[in-house]
Amino acid sequence: MDIVNEIRELKKEKDAIILAHYYVMPEIQEIADFVGDSFYLSKIAAKAPEKTIVFCGVSFMGESAKILSPDKTILMPDVTADCPMAHMCDAETIEKVKSDYDDLAVVCYINSTAELKTHSDVCVTSSNALQIVKALPQKNIYFIPDKNLAHFIAEQVPEKHFIFNDGFCPTHERMKYEEILELKEHYPDAAVLSHPECTESIRKISDYLGSTSQIIDYATESTKNEFIICTEIGVNYELETKNPDKKFYYAKSTPVCPNMKKNTLEKILNVLKTGENEVVVDEAVSKGSISALEMMHKLAK
Ligand code: 13P
Ligand code: SF4
Repeated sequence: MDIVNEIRELKKEKDAIILAHYYVMPEIQEIADFVGDSFYLSKIAAKAPEKTIVFCGVSFMGESAKILSPDKTILMPDVTADCPMAHMCDAETIEKVKSDYDDLAVVCYINSTAELKTHSDVCVTSSNALQIVKALPQKNIYFIPDKNLAHFIAEQVPEKHFIFNDGFCPTHERMKYEEILELKEHYPDAAVLSHPECTESIRKISDYLGSTSQIIDYATESTKNEFIICTEIGVNYELETKNPDKKFYYAKSTPVCPNMKKNTLEKILNVLKTGENEVVVDEAVSKGSISALEMMHKLAK
């Protein structure tokens, strides 16, 4: 039996589903039961009836799924697939900022450790951050860990006062403004679609900013035929599948998230066979972080 059929058989036998983020390899997106952006996957994980979820993404995704569904078994194909940005803040700094303001909400990008979520009021993803920040009653917003998404949101909500943290996504920050300008010169008719984790200079020359799903939807619904895509290269699989006649261009340095790419078919097969790499979240951390995740799901409805 080939590896894909072996995975399919084992999935049935173990009552498991496979969730995959748009940044994982095409062969995984092809066999996954659900592929999506962080918010979509967290909703699916929370309500999936299956006993086991194989989460092809990075640690914070598996952790969030476990916190929202503590009775499910969450398996990560590679436990070392971790998002560096998730660690770019710390509890002491959050508590210090909290003590500086009376009327403060700590808004935590879901790309963060469960520990950071325990110090936060609400989680957000790039697809719902604007809606959620607008809905918060607090005037002061401490947005962790990503400074780029924070600035993108802050610009659209001038009535709020933002306190910024210094985190960033190394994959999106590696993309250079000059590379995108060069692409724009080469393809003057192309629309620039970017993820809000991009730097300000790229954001400013973008025609549209959104989460991975929103970028894919925008390109699919657009009457344009050419797009410069400023996010991780994995989205190209869905973009081309949905739009075989459209053209998509990327920065010459090729934006690749090395952690997302640690997921492989072989590793999926292994965790289904062995049950290895089960996500475990400390009980106190789980209890402390669930309210921020649940608040996101409530406010993003
Ligand atoms: P999305 O929520 O847009 O899928 O983004 C996740 C991510 O890790 C971006 O780098
Ligand atoms: Fe983290 Fe960036 Fe990779 Fe997304 S692309 S998982 S933010 S390192």
